[in-house]
Amino acid sequence: MPLVTTTEMFKKAYAGGYAVGAFNVNNMEIIQGITRAAKKHNAPVILQVSAGARKYASHGYLVAMVKAAAEETGLPIALHLDHGPDFETCKACIDGGFTSVMIDGSHLPYEENVALTKQVVEYAHPRGVVVEGELGQLAGIEDDVNVSEDDAHFTDPDQVFDFVTRTGVDSLAIAIGTSHGAYKFKPGQKPQLRFDILEEVAQKLPGFPIVLHGASSVNQDDVKTINQYGGQMPDAIGIPEEMLRQASSMAVCKINVDSDIRIAMTAAIRKHFAENPTHFDPRQYLTPARDAIERVVSHKIETVLGCENKA
Ligand code: G3H
Ligand code: 13P
Ligand code: ZN
Repeated sequence: MPLVTTTEMFKKAYAGGYAVGAFNVNNMEIIQGITRAAKKHNAPVILQVSAGARKYASHGYLVAMVKAAAEETGLPIALHLDHGPDFETCKACIDGGFTSVMIDGSHLPYEENVALTKQVVEYAHPRGVVVEGELGQLAGIEDDVNVSEDDAHFTDPDQVFDFVTRTGVDSLAIAIGTSHGAYKFKPGQKPQLRFDILEEVAQKLPGFPIVLHGASSVNQDDVKTINQYGGQMPDAIGIPEEMLRQASSMAVCKINVDSDIRIAMTAAIRKHFAENPTHFDPRQYLTPARDAIERVVSHKIETVLGCENKA
């Protein structure tokens, strides 16, 4: 099956009260782990590539591997640029086989965010590519940008209608208390999300797909495994799964996960080397890593996203 945009996925997800998983990909094993899980559960899936991933693996390899996954699985798969930093990067992805791009102007003053996002939409739409914008700013680390808690701010629901109508974006990422990376809440802090903001945004934009970034849950068993086998991860706290289920049943149609995959891979590889210190064939340690990714994504589809059998 050729790659698809997210338009149909989001329409069905909104109507069905579920969300589609958007997972970051950096190499072949990650793509295979994710799409094997999606195939097993007959689920639509979004594979997303950050600017850092493009730099690491190169545009051409990633596009070719994602296309191969779509052909092999026959699933609806969208190839999405995650946190597009500028017009040029978005243009390169639109021209180069992506079906969806995010332009992240969330750090810019409002009018500049509107202007940049509109510019990307005007280039993308005539070429059949959809665009995600962002309003509000998450804390945490993405690529080389580290947004401190002080600089993060929630989305203002009074801005969303103006932003969406003036830019023409197809989906909107909002900030309601999630953050990027493995350390989302301080030890002892009770995880909380601003569902009141999500509710208000949904009222202002009826039927419009909302995106949740920074949505990893941080599996404590995986963190324990990493630390048991020589790692040194401080207490990491993610988004509780019941909160993600609640968001999926509301206007959130796309849930972004990267850190959970990184942590699961690292745990599997550390454990493998501890148990098999003589191994040096990458296939020996990348097999359990790929299996671990498949398990993480299966779990998300079954218990968090609700997109099983929605392909
Ligand atoms: O939100 C950012 C994603 O986790 C991608 O991370 O920019 O290090 O590839 P990266
Ligand atoms: P996590 O760091 O919570 O996995 O978030 C990933 C993300 O939002 C990618 O855009
Ligand atoms: Zn993100």
